[in-house]
Amino acid sequence: MNSMAEGKKDITILGIESSCDETAAAVVVNGRDVLSNEISSQIDIHTLYGGVVPEIASRKHTERINQVIREALRQADRTLDDIDAIAVTYGPGLVGALLVGVSAAKAISFARDIPLIGVHHIEGHISANFIAAKDLEPPFMCLVVSGGHTHLVNVKDYGVYEILGRTQDDAAGEAFDKVARAIGLGYPGGPKIDKAAKEGNPQALHFPRGKVGGSRYDFSFSGLKSAVLNYLNTERMAGREISVPDVAASFQQAVVDVLVGHAMEAVDEYHAPKFAIAGGVASNSALRRAAEEACRERGVTFYCPPPILCTDNAAMIACAGYYEYLKGTRSGYDLNAVPGLALGER
Ligand code: KG4
Ligand code: ZN
Repeated sequence: MNSMAEGKKDITILGIESSCDETAAAVVVNGRDVLSNEISSQIDIHTLYGGVVPEIASRKHTERINQVIREALRQADRTLDDIDAIAVTYGPGLVGALLVGVSAAKAISFARDIPLIGVHHIEGHISANFIAAKDLEPPFMCLVVSGGHTHLVNVKDYGVYEILGRTQDDAAGEAFDKVARAIGLGYPGGPKIDKAAKEGNPQALHFPRGKVGGSRYDFSFSGLKSAVLNYLNTERMAGREISVPDVAASFQQAVVDVLVGHAMEAVDEYHAPKFAIAGGVASNSALRRAAEEACRERGVTFYCPPPILCTDNAAMIACAGYYEYLKGTRSGYDLNAVPGLALGER
């Protein structure tokens, strides 16, 4: 029975996301029912440069945003008259890229008098789990691993977060992208390393599992990245052939060991009954397998969104926006892009 039938009004949210290299819009009902999830990726353009070029990203967002929003409404068979609120990513991310989504959301909100809600990008990634698992409710432990972020978060309630650990240097996805470039796989590195690693031996080479002095849950990936680069240099100087699949598999194993190791320490310490992963790197097949296995051993329920909801999308932003909407959060027309926005900050 839907909530209309129960006498409650359905809440329909238009989500907009443009923080990096995906222009995305989605229509989501009651936070979890995705009517449309349009994603226009710029990967093909940025691949030419080996990584995201911020100025190009902003321009492409500007070219595509209106069309993507229109398509999301069309696919959902809804018009702006049906939209109860517009949720938009306002940080963290590339400032010029964020500004395109924020400006579009503000313009529609103003023109049609639709409430506006600024959403934190990481809160969106975490919320992708609510879409994938309709029964998931906080509290749960969540590992957020993307191109720009590596956070271990205790999700205490909707929109209430305790950050237990974060990376002290490179994000997990950034390490994937840099190592992929060094072994000639190109951009974006994560999916390419994931694929190459399937043909390789994860035990072939031993790379360090980064330890840091800060919180016991903090991460460090720059030492691992340097170890891989040093290994490649040494082998090349000695004229030895490099096995790309073995380097990919061994590097990936080191990342997965650290991510799952830290996450499970937190799960044990906090007696978390549920563990979720989120963000682009959460689509990594080795990470998903290892996290699922570690949870099974502990009797902890494991959650992970399908890959399309792990990488950047607007359905997750609409979902996070829905829970903010229920709490009464509304943004003004002074909403601005905040590239370094911290989780839990408003
Ligand atoms: O969440 P996301 O789409 O954007 C950010 O918010 O950063 O994450 C993109 C990151 C990139 O670094 C990409 O290489 C990585 O996620 N990624 C993966 C995989 N798919 C995407 N990393 C490892 N394995 C994958 N299968
Ligand atoms: Zn992201």
